[in-house]
Amino acid sequence: MAQDALFNPLQLGAMALKHRVVMAPLTRMRAKQPGDVPYELNAEYYGQRASEGGLLITEATDINPFTKGYRSVPGVYTPAQIAGWKKVTAAVHAKGGFIVNQIWHVGRVSHSSLQPGGVLPVAPSAIPAPGEGFNADGIAVPYETPRELTVDEIAAIKADFGQAARNAREAGFDGVEIHGANGYLLDQFLHDGSNQRTDEYGGSVENRARFLLEVVDAVVAGIGGDKVGVRLSPWSGILGMQDSTGLTLWEHVIAELGKRKIAYLHLIEPRADFTNDERPLDMDAPDVAALFKKAFGGPIISAGGFLPDTAAAAVASGKSDAIAFGRPFIANPDLPERIRNGAPLNKHNRATFYGGAAEGYTDYPFLAAAE
Ligand SMILES: Cc1cc2nc3c(=O)[nH]c(=O)nc-3n(C[C@H](O)[C@H](O)[C@H](O)COP(=O)(O)O)c2cc1C
Repeated sequence: MAQDALFNPLQLGAMALKHRVVMAPLTRMRAKQPGDVPYELNAEYYGQRASEGGLLITEATDINPFTKGYRSVPGVYTPAQIAGWKKVTAAVHAKGGFIVNQIWHVGRVSHSSLQPGGVLPVAPSAIPAPGEGFNADGIAVPYETPRELTVDEIAAIKADFGQAARNAREAGFDGVEIHGANGYLLDQFLHDGSNQRTDEYGGSVENRARFLLEVVDAVVAGIGGDKVGVRLSPWSGILGMQDSTGLTLWEHVIAELGKRKIAYLHLIEPRADFTNDERPLDMDAPDVAALFKKAFGGPIISAGGFLPDTAAAAVASGKSDAIAFGRPFIANPDLPERIRNGAPLNKHNRATFYGGAAEGYTDYPFLAAAE
């Protein structure tokens, strides 16, 4: 069958996957309050999407209270959060699935109202993201000019990433994915539009890549490289990402990640825009899986606007090893089964992406119920 390429086993570091239909990390802003704690509803949602030998990547998760960019995003830094995640990982493991925790720091994509003590968000340089973001009440407000991080603070964030990874393992996760994509802190360091530092963390490509690579090293030291993935979004332009070095930057970062023998590299194709369902795929955008597969040398998960047939073709061609689906996995709890059977897919409802409870979260129908 056309989709067969997606249903071959794949070893991703320590995880022996039975198929290649991966759930992409998806922020849903539904952690229990107060405390940003995962709870039964989240366990039900991830449990619904788990499958035998399938991999789920969680929504981006805060590593300390200052890494927060949106309301009701879960954390993995308090005992209550770790206990909450145990319910999620147990639900996924009960179905024979794998789950890794995506860990992030949003950097300048925050607002002082979301920060403890109302302090300004931090970033590589005091350069605001363009346009508007959300404050603690969910109201759109212009991005504030962030405060530039000191080198000591950078070291503390590295340590927090390492601790978050250990916490994730304590919570039962099979590993972590470091969020280096989509305009958040690590991506802000990579791009010279947002990083104009003059110390060892800014300037040359090597300097701008230093923070990401040091975070990777801290996390690998904490839990082992066979349990670590990294997500990048070359040429996305999201949240004001701009860079004058382009290819040289990505070649360096990806070759360095390759040397570290991590479990996988997760690349978002720049052709897709997940913030706009109407925009057609930009097929002139660079094909990043094809460009960087060799430089990385290990397994590549690709994401961005895939449908079952284009996903199978990307894996069959050898440029991607697995495909992460975002919007289709929101709307189809049994996405791998649907793809395997060539069944029709439910359409997502963008109005219920962020925040709320069960509606638009755990109430999308399974195949049997839809028939
Ligand atoms: C509601 C929503 C939330 C998202 N949250 C995250 C996130 O927390 N971390 C991340 O790396 N990407 C996030 N993304 C991007 C997706 O992981 C994925 O790359 C994107 O949706 C493109 O894949 P798709 O075309 O299959 O939807 C999000 C996308 C959507 C639609």
